[in-house]
Amino acid sequence: MSLTGCLPPSCSAIRALSSPPPCSGKRRANAPVVTMASTAKANAPNPPKPKNQFTAPHPVPPQVTHTLPPEKQEIFASLDGWAASHILPYLKPVEESWQPQDHLPDPSSASFHDEVRDLRARAAGLPDGYLVCLVGDMVTEEALPTYQTMLNTLDGGVRDETGASGTSWAVWTRAWAAEENRHGDLMNKYLYLTGRVDMRQVEKTIQYLIGSGMIQPINLAKVEDPRTENDPYLGYIYTTFQERATFISHGNTARHARRHGDAALARVCGTIAADEKRHEAAYARIVAKLFDLDPDYTLRAFARMMRKKVAMPAHLMRDGSATDGSGLFARYSAVAQRLGVYTAADYAGIIEFLVERWGVARLEAGLSGEGRRAQEFVCSLGPRFRRLEERAQEAAAAKGMLDSAPISWIHGREVQL
Ligand SMILES: [Fe+2]
Ligand SMILES: [Fe+2]
Repeated sequence: MSLTGCLPPSCSAIRALSSPPPCSGKRRANAPVVTMASTAKANAPNPPKPKNQFTAPHPVPPQVTHTLPPEKQEIFASLDGWAASHILPYLKPVEESWQPQDHLPDPSSASFHDEVRDLRARAAGLPDGYLVCLVGDMVTEEALPTYQTMLNTLDGGVRDETGASGTSWAVWTRAWAAEENRHGDLMNKYLYLTGRVDMRQVEKTIQYLIGSGMIQPINLAKVEDPRTENDPYLGYIYTTFQERATFISHGNTARHARRHGDAALARVCGTIAADEKRHEAAYARIVAKLFDLDPDYTLRAFARMMRKKVAMPAHLMRDGSATDGSGLFARYSAVAQRLGVYTAADYAGIIEFLVERWGVARLEAGLSGEGRRAQEFVCSLGPRFRRLEERAQEAAAAKGMLDSAPISWIHGREVQL
């Protein structure tokens, strides 16, 4: 997570900004504008001004949109039957799925209060740093509306056009989101019952994050673009990466919970990690199919995505407090790095895993010159990140003193970063 910012932004993405394609949805300079105001009577009273007007949590920078080449617009529509037989089987029927309630005290049971007391006794031993990681992971899960929206912006026949589309891709996205929805739900309820966190601050963070979306305004002067450009190749590569990242992170919080004596919480995190692994397998399979059909474009898309840096989807998180502000994600990332919940070495490991999973080094047939350069780039990336990570660790060790910062989620207590 802390590696965002290590690599330069994609030059091609910035070039694309100078000439938005006609289908980008941007209004032409002298195109007519139809607004609700045009139907209002001239003497209608102005709407009352709210006392404290809503403002967007983050400025929205210019964005690169709809870069999928025309000849690839129907690729996913043509794979609909394949997805039905090869991707939908990764989903679990609802009746066979775990539900959050399976892991929580039953509020309709006479033993509810005893179960809550036991849960709180176990959670009493969880260190603050661990709680910060758990809250950050939960907030990330709770921003699911953003991720489903992202998938439904993708071109190429992927998006759920109506919210109830019958294509295999739309069926997958809805059912995937329905499975994912249990993750934030379970973690949220569990954390609430522990009594260890400031739930109002956590809830504000979720509201800010969903309102922010996934745009990455790291440096508005340089115009960082959003991650996926509506290109399903980029979108599915990004999602594969994220599913593996969350699998690693939840797996590590499970191990830590067990070490801190909370076996029930370890089961919660482990159960969620298993879902992430299954989702990762499905998305990796989709990208593997793209590598089979279209190795050159898929390889170049992989390199483009890696050059952009894979920003964590929750990097815009904030809680609105005076102390945390927009540095909240950096603090959460630093704690996760220090505790080994999700580290720069994990980031490098994911790249290496995906390079191997998709057989990138062995690709030969059908590669253009640019494809070969992309191959060289992604194959060298994992080791490069590892070297950067080692140097960063050495620098931190040489610095000696560890920084700490207050985090509102745990009632403003200081946590080592
Ligand atoms: Fe999840
Ligand atoms: Fe996931």
